[in-house]
Parts: sequence; structure tokens; C-alpha cells
Amino acid sequence: MNDFQKELVAALRKFCRENIEPHMEHDDHEGKFRMEIFQGLGEYGVAGVTLPTEFGGAGLTYSDYCLILEEIAKYSVPYAVTVSVSGMVQTIIKEFGNKKQQEKFLPKLTSGEEIGAFALSESHSGSDAASLKTTARKTEGGYLLNGTKMWITSGGIAKTYIVMARTGGEGAKGVSAFIVRDGDKGFTFGKAEKKMGWKTSPTRELVFENCFVPDENLLLAEGKGFSVAMGGLDRGRVAIAAIGVGCAQRALDESIKYALTRQQFKQPIFNFQGLQFMLSDMATETEASRLLVQAAARSIDNDATDSKLCSMAKLKATDTAMAVTTDAVQVLGGVGYTSEYPVERFMRDAKVLQIVEGTNQIQRVVIARHLRKENEQHA
Ligand code: CAA
Repeated sequence: MNDFQKELVAALRKFCRENIEPHMEHDDHEGKFRMEIFQGLGEYGVAGVTLPTEFGGAGLTYSDYCLILEEIAKYSVPYAVTVSVSGMVQTIIKEFGNKKQQEKFLPKLTSGEEIGAFALSESHSGSDAASLKTTARKTEGGYLLNGTKMWITSGGIAKTYIVMARTGGEGAKGVSAFIVRDGDKGFTFGKAEKKMGWKTSPTRELVFENCFVPDENLLLAEGKGFSVAMGGLDRGRVAIAAIGVGCAQRALDESIKYALTRQQFKQPIFNFQGLQFMLSDMATETEASRLLVQAAARSIDNDATDSKLCSMAKLKATDTAMAVTTDAVQVLGGVGYTSEYPVERFMRDAKVLQIVEGTNQIQRVVIARHLRKENEQHA
């Protein structure tokens, strides 16, 4: 970290300790999302980290952004995810939107006044995203959307949604991307999911019944929606990876603290080599993940987004988050399994990091496709 990043992270740590940490156990239990926390993060400047200042963003790098997400995730994975998905929506509008769309939708997202959400998945199209069935039929002045989106992070609390819908034939080329707003006629929220983790981050169904979306809310052009979604996901996956690093780091920190104070057999359990080996492996895997995240972030900062590296970072960091949080519960033993300590919450929050923004099996598919392409001459 450079000096600026160190200062940034230290200030954010103070904010998270004072404003997020005290609520987390209670809110995890109650499934309560607090808009004031998100808006507080916004006032702190972390709702639109990488967006240019002309749109109200902080104009920082993706590498800075990953450190910010890692820090928030040490206190709350769900709030970090709310920031990151809203950030992905901003990136999409900035990269693929026209000037009018950018001016209209970005400022409220970058300031943290509003939240953004990304709607690709449907009940029958998860990993096979290009098979989505929601339709957008052309009508005068716009499109009529019909269909249901599933498992939408921030569904119900977000105001601006990027919705992928079919304007053409089968497959990726028939998909278009639209900006839809909460309150648009014909757009309602379906069931709220009950989940293992991410309890403070609402996950909701979105229902479109003849929902009119004006022409001006189409991103890029008809048929470009799948590339818009995949381009957004390349970056989003690095953000999820950074959250995985924060989640793992918190579990590791809790494990070390506990092992140094917990006495068994008349000595701190840290003294036992079996535990030292576990802690060393947890620390090494976490650091390796962080380096991979930074490498992927650098590719984004250099305007040379490396999809393979983005998928590798997501795969490695979120598998690490799962492994390290599971080991943390083991290090703490009986109390680790109770809500007296936060490690069980981080273990539950880690699981879905291996699933969202493309399962880790899909990340391997993406990596393998790149490997094949890079070595076509041998095929
Ligand atoms: N950037 C830009 N364009 C891309 C791209 C990328 N990274 N990857 C693919 N494309 C383009 C391709 O170039 C292709 O276009 P052309 O034919 O014009 O070249 C088009 O998209 C189709 O690509 P594929 O043939 O590779 O598509 P596919 O059907 O084989 O699918 C896949 C590829 C990688 C499996 C993809 O479906 C995928 O990533 N699936 C996982 C879905 C996913 O990540 N869902 C996340 C849900 S959102 C979420 O979880 C957020 C949250 O709430 C936290």
C-alpha cells in the first residue's frame, strides 16, 4: 500500500468500527439493512470510488477500490457487497452509457444517495446466462419488459437496475441491457429470499409485467446486452474477490487473537504446532489472494482488463475466504460455532462469494477458454 492508501484505509477502518461493527450481530440476526450505513459510506466517498469526479465519483483507481472493499468486508461482507454491486452498475453506465444516461443516473449512485442493482439471472438461466427469457418487445418510444429476475442483490432497496432482456433471437446476440428505475410502471418486487448468510443484504425477485422502458434507457444498442453484462462482471468479479480477501483477513485476525489468549494444557493454544501450521496456511492463502486481486485490479487501471486474471482472482480469493473462515471456526472450537464471536457469520457470508457473479466453476470455464485461446497453435 502507498501512503495515500494507508491513510484511506485507516480512516475507513475507524468509520467501520464506529458505524458498522456495533450493529452487525444484531442486524445479522434480524436481517436488517440500514440505509444510513450505506449513505454514511457514501458521505465518506466510497460509494463511487472509481468514477470520475465529473460524475461525483472519487476518481480513484480500481486498486484503491479493492483495498476499500477489503476493509469494509472485514466488518461486514453484506455492506461491502452492496457497495460493490452498486459500483458495478456505475461502471456499466460509465463504460457503456451515453452522456445523457451518465448525467442522469450516475450522480445519485456515486454520492451513495441511491443504490444500484444488476439483474441478469433468472430461475432457468443462472450459469447459462445467455439463455435468459425475459423479453423486451419494441413498442412506440421504447420497450415493454416481461419476465422475472431471480436472486437480485439489493432488490427492493436499489433505485436503479441494469436489466438484461431479450430483444432478438436465441443466445447472447439477442440480449439487450436496459436501465430500469424502481417505481417504473409494471415493475414490482417478488419474494425476498431467506438465506444462509448475507442477511443484512436483501436478495429479491424482480417482476416485469408490461413494464415500459423508454428508448433512451437502452444501453449501447440492441443485441449488445450480453457484452455489457460480461464487461461489467469482469470488474465486478475482482470486487467480489477483494471482499473475499477482507472476509478471510477478519477470520484470520480473530483466529490469531483467540489462539494467543486461549489457554489449554497450561499455555496459549498458539504454542501448538498443529495450530501454527493452520494459521500460517490461512495467512499465506489470504496474502496470495490479495496479490492476485491487486494484479487483476492493475489490469483494469491500465485499461487492459484481463478477464482471465479477473476470474482467477475471484476463484482464488473466494475459495480462500471459504477455507479460511471454516478453519477459523475450527481454531475457535465450541465458541467459534456460536454468535459470541463473529467467525461463524463470516463463514456463512463467505459461502455465497463462491456462487455470485459466476460460480467458481464458471470462473474455471472462463480461465480454461483463455488457456485454449492462448495456445491455439497447439490445437
Ligand atoms: N467481455 C465482453 N464481452 C464478452 C465477455 C467479456 N468478458 N465474455 C464474453 N463476451 C461476449 C463474447 O465476445 C460473445 O460475443 P461475440 O459472439 O460477439 O464474440 C458473447 O459475449 C457470448 O460469449 P460466449 O460465447 O462466451 O457466451 P456463453 O453463452 O458461452 O457464456 C459464460 C459464457 C462465461 C458461461 C457466461 O454465461 C457467464 O459468465 N455465466 C455466469 C453468469 C454470471 O456470472 N452471473 C452472475 C449474476 S450477477 C450477480 O451474481 C451479481 C450479484 O448479485 C452479486
